[in-house]
Amino acid sequence: MTLETIDFAQLYRQHQALSTRTRKTASAWDARAPGMAAKALASGYAQDFVARMDLRGAQSLLDVGCGPGTIGLLLAAQLQQVVGLDYSAGMLAVLREQAAARGLQQVQTLQRAWEDDWSDVPECDLVVASRSTAVADIDMALHKLHAKARRRVYLTHLVGGHFTDPHIQDAIGRRVPPQPDYIYLLNILHRMGIHPELSYLTQESRLAGAPDFAEFARRVAWSLGELNVVETTRLHDWYERASPAQRAGAPMRWAFISWEKTPC
Ligand SMILES: C[S@@+](CC[C@H](N)C(=O)[O-])C[C@H]1O[C@@H](n2cnc3c(N)ncnc32)[C@H](O)[C@@H]1O
Repeated sequence: MTLETIDFAQLYRQHQALSTRTRKTASAWDARAPGMAAKALASGYAQDFVARMDLRGAQSLLDVGCGPGTIGLLLAAQLQQVVGLDYSAGMLAVLREQAAARGLQQVQTLQRAWEDDWSDVPECDLVVASRSTAVADIDMALHKLHAKARRRVYLTHLVGGHFTDPHIQDAIGRRVPPQPDYIYLLNILHRMGIHPELSYLTQESRLAGAPDFAEFARRVAWSLGELNVVETTRLHDWYERASPAQRAGAPMRWAFISWEKTPC
């Protein structure tokens, strides 16, 4: 067998299909939008992301799965056009509020899913997808990002496949299959004739700093799906014994993948 015979796009789709149980709807993201804005926009993760970007020659940016505008808003003052694309109306409403509060008139929103027709999505100098690539078909997503970029593409994708530390999964007695991690993306990009750059960035676990058990359990359920009574009891017993560091679990690690768009 050689690497060329492996269909990484198909392998990813099969792998991702195993983890559909925790896939989120747009309305689930709507509900998270107000709470996410303050945290994401001020995060070290966002600062670290934009610090790695090359803005030379760029006037426009398309931010795919933009959420509350985590990346686009940080850069808008340096650009003439920022388009935030997301399927969650709630996220886009928060992005518009945040842009208005900062007097950023160059920010537009586009309610669209990865899976929709993108024929009217504008091409931009820079295209970004931050923590938003957990799609059923990553081959489709990478082709769309590439097609809409005039100069450069930047994305982050999960390393290791777990949104919740496996130790915490063990504590409740339920292991969720890992999501396909970034290594598929590198292989698919290679097949597309693209030679991306790779680095890593970390983010404090979402469970860190949960003020009480109710909030902690809510955050665990966001990633793992609803917990039943037995699982909630196990989690509570474990939570009572765990230190703050154990409760937080390991930091989340993201692969930061970027490439230049060379003119055809
Ligand atoms: C983890 S948040 C990331 C938000 C922001 N990019 C950041 O890094 O803070 C994932 C975002 O992707 C959006 N999203 C998830 N699935 C999507 C899909 N199929 N089409 C479009 N947006 C999607 C969600 O609504 C959410 O705003």
